[in-house]
Amino acid sequence: MHKAPLAAAIFVTVAFTSAGAEDSFPPVGNATVKTECSACHMLYQPQMLPKRSWQAVVEGLAKHFGEDASLPPAKTTEVLDYLVANAADAGRSGSKFLRDLPAAATPMRITETPYWLRKHRELRPEIWKRTSVGAKGNCQTCHQGAATGDFDEDRVRIPK
Ligand code: HEC
Ligand code: HEC
Repeated sequence: MHKAPLAAAIFVTVAFTSAGAEDSFPPVGNATVKTECSACHMLYQPQMLPKRSWQAVVEGLAKHFGEDASLPPAKTTEVLDYLVANAADAGRSGSKFLRDLPAAATPMRITETPYWLRKHRELRPEIWKRTSVGAKGNCQTCHQGAATGDFDEDRVRIPK
């Protein structure tokens, strides 16, 4: 007798989570990733790259965009496991960052995915040269809620 309402509650929760998954970039929930992947740039949400990309990024940490970002083996495994478990292609519906991404492509940058490029193609090239912006990967300079997953285009503010 007690089982039916419980099953119904679980079903509702699962349905809700799955419906919201495509647009959801929750704050990173792993302490090691938070510490080790935020020293040099914004802490990127794993939902923005597919599993194969995180695999390649983590395997290449010793030569990471010209920097040595390597970690001891236990931390490397923990970081990789978290990124893969929460990757763009880990959820049921898949993240928007998978759109138009060829199965054979393994982007090393979020800013090289077709979805990201499409969303930012109307920004004049001059904007990316501003010192106030710095790099394309400095999401938080324009999306101030980036760390909590707020990339809503209504709240974008491009620095002068
Ligand atoms: C020692 C400094 C350093 C650390 C630590 C570091 N990175 Fe990076 N990361 C960089 C640099 C430098 C770039 C390239 C910046 C640029 O050219 O725009 C970069 C770029 C990236 C990009 C591509 C951003 C884009 O343009 O889309 C990803 C993804 C990334 N890092 C993930 C990680 C992850 C995951 C970790 C933790 C395991 C990490 N980084 C730790 C220095 C670092
Ligand atoms: C120079 C400022 C700037 C930077 C840096 C920037 N963006 Fe954006 N982003 C924008 C603007 C402006 C838009 C809105 C484009 C439009 O109106 O269609 C946007 C749109 C988006 C959207 C779509 C939002 C929606 O509601 O459809 C996402 C997702 C996004 N950006 C993610 C990122 C990520 C992730 C990064 C960093 C890797 C980043 N952006 C870096 C300016 C920026």
